[in-house]
Amino acid sequence: MRSITTLDELRAARLSLDGTVGFVPTMGFLHEGHLSLIRRAKEECTHVVVSIFVNPTQFGPQEDLFRYPRDIERDLKLIAPLGVDLVWMPTTEIMYPQGYQTWVEVEAMTRPLEGAVRPGHFRGVTTVVTKLFNAVQPHKSYFGQKDAQQAAVIRQMVKDLNFPIEIVVCPTMREPDGLAMSSRNVYLDPEQRKAATILFRSLSAAKELYETGERNAETLRKRMKEILASEPLAQVQYVSCADYDSLEELTEIKSKTLLSMAVFIGGTRLIDNFVLE
Ligand code: PAJ
Repeated sequence: MRSITTLDELRAARLSLDGTVGFVPTMGFLHEGHLSLIRRAKEECTHVVVSIFVNPTQFGPQEDLFRYPRDIERDLKLIAPLGVDLVWMPTTEIMYPQGYQTWVEVEAMTRPLEGAVRPGHFRGVTTVVTKLFNAVQPHKSYFGQKDAQQAAVIRQMVKDLNFPIEIVVCPTMREPDGLAMSSRNVYLDPEQRKAATILFRSLSAAKELYETGERNAETLRKRMKEILASEPLAQVQYVSCADYDSLEELTEIKSKTLLSMAVFIGGTRLIDNFVLE
């Protein structure tokens, strides 16, 4: 496994990889969710490239860019046994040098949900992922269902901009009590950590209703809100029952559906989702 920083090093190393290349972009502080993407890439591709870059342009001015958890040494130890060929850790100056002025924006699909409460977030994500794709030139790239809208936006971008890259979306990895793994979970104190299972519990309750035949989207949204309201530490930002492809809010469930939510537990913003097939 080689760790590299500069674009020149990356390009030279990329040239030496023959066969198929699988790419896993991350912001580091890795957990089982990230590792599951790397393992999947390893199964499906000849070579695996991982990037670690806390992308400043996807954080809003009031967000946690400066306190976002980082531990490169620990990350490299976690990746080492997985058979990764290259770990690319560019600096902010490499990704956004002085005078940088080019952006990639996906339109309608970035407006609801995360896009509505995190203005500019997806513009930062699609821009950095484009730059990472251009540099790494992978055949396949791996994303988590945990960030459902991000995965949908990246798929749309790849289709619209003709990237010759297959996007693979992998299942959400969870703690034994259901909490979706996230680098941000380290912000939670023990009391908040317990309260954080409310996201999983409310999604599970809505899914149960769906499985007993309920197809009214508002009834599912109400159910999720009721359960979330039972947790005093939880502050709901949004609760959604939307079409899986367009991400538009539904009245009636007829096809593949995304239940999703963003909830503050103390100062920590958590997101989670379930897909109803
Ligand atoms: P980051 O939050 O580090 O996540 C990197 C990848 O890991 C994303 O595709 C994310 O969906 C996936 N992931 C996170 N938690 C997961 C879990 N519990 N189970 C499965 N997969 C999980 O997402 C980003 O970084 C950035 O936006 C990035 C795409 C790297 C662009 O900067």
